[in-house]
Amino acid sequence: MPGTKTIEVTVNGQIHRAEVEPRLLLVHFLRDVLGLTGTHIGCDTSQCGVCTVLMNGQAVKSCTVLAVQADGAEITTVEGLAQSGQLHPVQEAFWEKHGLQCGFCTPGAMMLAIGILQENPRPTEEEIRHGLNGIICRCTGYQNIVRAVQHAAERMSG
Ligand code: FES
Ligand code: FES
Repeated sequence: MPGTKTIEVTVNGQIHRAEVEPRLLLVHFLRDVLGLTGTHIGCDTSQCGVCTVLMNGQAVKSCTVLAVQADGAEITTVEGLAQSGQLHPVQEAFWEKHGLQCGFCTPGAMMLAIGILQENPRPTEEEIRHGLNGIICRCTGYQNIVRAVQHAAERMSG
């Protein structure tokens, strides 16, 4: 198709080749092209963070990345967290510490939490709160999300 570009992106360990328009956002590529609707959209100003995914291991807001920029990248979405029916420690921690209410921000919050813990496996409460600036949760007041990230940090560092 004229004006389109072929990209190859590894998403949750699976390689996807697709022809995309240069203006297509990564979040729309994930949701509309690949059908991975666990990545949510909560704003059009790049502020809410509910679209957060891991790109080459780093938490990024997928509404701020063009699909063509993800060419050759490895993306992990919330659908890729559980392995062989086993929840990721961050998923377990959100469950155990009730780090959610309506759940709308939860996929993004968990991906952000993983990004925080990858950069700093033993963050202080202040560092967790600072990291969570990247997401807007309208329900929880953040307290249980912070507890969940602390709990995940404990689990993941043994
Ligand atoms: S959809 Fe709100 S920051 Fe991406
Ligand atoms: S749990 Fe409702 S927006 Fe965070």
